[in-house]
Amino acid sequence: MKIAISGKGGVGKTTISGTLARVFSSRGKKVIAVDSDPSMNLHTALGVENPIPVSRLKDLIKERAVISDGIFRMNPKVDDILDRYSIGIENVRLIVMGTVDKGGGGCICPENTFLSALLRHLVLKRDEILILDTEAGIEHLGRKTAAHFDLMLVVIEPSAKAVETANRIYELSKEIGIKDVLAIGNKVSSDDQRDFIKNNIKFGILGYIPFDTKVTSADILNNALFNTPNSDALKSIEAIADKITK
Ligand SMILES: Nc1ncnc2c1ncn2[C@@H]1O[C@H](COP(=O)(O)OP(=O)(O)O)[C@@H](O)[C@H]1O
Ligand SMILES: [Mg+2]
Repeated sequence: MKIAISGKGGVGKTTISGTLARVFSSRGKKVIAVDSDPSMNLHTALGVENPIPVSRLKDLIKERAVISDGIFRMNPKVDDILDRYSIGIENVRLIVMGTVDKGGGGCICPENTFLSALLRHLVLKRDEILILDTEAGIEHLGRKTAAHFDLMLVVIEPSAKAVETANRIYELSKEIGIKDVLAIGNKVSSDDQRDFIKNNIKFGILGYIPFDTKVTSADILNNALFNTPNSDALKSIEAIADKITK
């Protein structure tokens, strides 16, 4: 099962990605958590240290991805990267993609080629559950990789902007051939807010997560929500994990 998490900034993607990964792990499933957001904070939601971002492995990338000046290998060796450059907690391994300096327009540089090859490998060749925390959605991944996701979870909070972004992501995800695209309504604190989401989202809703001050305090203390006792948000994420498994 390969899952991508997307949505507008600040809606709760990272919190949900990290917590879902820990919930699956606690149920004995092996999980690869991929942080592809430049802010690189999925580790906090998981409760681990950050591993070195793959984009910073300059020498290794150069050695494997550069054929000669300006010519790059499209399929560099990447099958040892997860084992060497991820950090584990229980059954989850976290790998951080890191940022590529674009220097203006979208660059064709060895880092990009390498990161794409790595993600393609993780999505196509490994059988762990994969959870991808994205900033930019997954349209840029290339069709082959994107089409191999089983599920796109689009996180929404009760706001017109979040809903608009979510509906757009839905259209794009369908275009690139992702099988299931479902919404998660997060930070919901009233029936009205739940109705607002229900009435404005153009696709299926997998579940709702309440606004929960335990999430905010876990954030302040740099703790993983998964390790926070009596959190209603955590309970809802567990229920969402149940639905995904089914
Ligand atoms: N259910 C919730 N209740 C209260 N606060 C939440 C909830 N989910 C997320 N947050 C808060 O919202 C902020 C953004 O969450 P984050 O997971 O970093 O979003 P994103 O990755 O989409 O930018 C954080 O401060 C987080 O603590
Ligand atoms: Mg995030």
